[in-house]
Amino acid sequence: MKFEDKIRQMKGKEKIIMLTAYDYQMAKILDEVGVDLILVGDSLGMVFQGYTDTKKVTMDDMIYHTKAVARGAKNTPVIGDMPIHSYDTVETALKNAQLFLDAGANGVKIEGNKPEIIEALIAAKVPVMGHVGLLPQTAQAYKVRGKTAEEAKQIFQDAVEIDGYGVFSIVLECIPENLAKRITENVNAPTIGIGAGKYCDGQVLVINDMLGLDESFTPKYLKRYANLNKTIKNAVKRFMKEVRLGAYPDEEHTYH
Ligand code: KIV
Repeated sequence: MKFEDKIRQMKGKEKIIMLTAYDYQMAKILDEVGVDLILVGDSLGMVFQGYTDTKKVTMDDMIYHTKAVARGAKNTPVIGDMPIHSYDTVETALKNAQLFLDAGANGVKIEGNKPEIIEALIAAKVPVMGHVGLLPQTAQAYKVRGKTAEEAKQIFQDAVEIDGYGVFSIVLECIPENLAKRITENVNAPTIGIGAGKYCDGQVLVINDMLGLDESFTPKYLKRYANLNKTIKNAVKRFMKEVRLGAYPDEEHTYH
């Protein structure tokens, strides 16, 4: 069965789990645990490259990371997040989506309601994941969307239209729970929420955030499932101390 049909069939039955990954080792871990989807998110611009947003991420960056992730994700579908300006026209979208597939991705994600682009990709047999709500590539500020009736109406309409183009899933980012619920109940594609409450068909988090690598990133929706910032600092401090004391390398870790 095609992966996108399997994801579609999970709607209303089993929660879909998606996490981001940007490198081989993390993808291998996620693959071994058995997540449903791995997203090579353009969030790598922030958590890997250190920019304040995702607007400087290029196709070259995305392809480099997608190749690394695909090597680790032996059994898990990999979704390539098409970066800003990589789908400005149908022609560039088709060309760049093919580059993602050639790099080992199984599908692509597109931010916003782009009828011509999404329909052309699907017609070319590229599985597409939609994305509504907070759209980081064009947002001026990172805040919850759809709090006013007018904005909620637009997001709802975008989700329904994107669903109609035939996407296999839709990311709902930073919208009120009741709006996410209404969208989830009115679209065929499964919804995958981030900051969109519990009624979505699945959930996605940025792996660095859920593992607690950056203590300064504290949006309301984020739950940390580990504190790797602390774990890494403690390990590095122990290493520093042992090397300075001459306790490492000891006999056990020395060749003769
Ligand atoms: O870039 C990304 O990681 C994303 C997720 C937050 C959905 O788009």
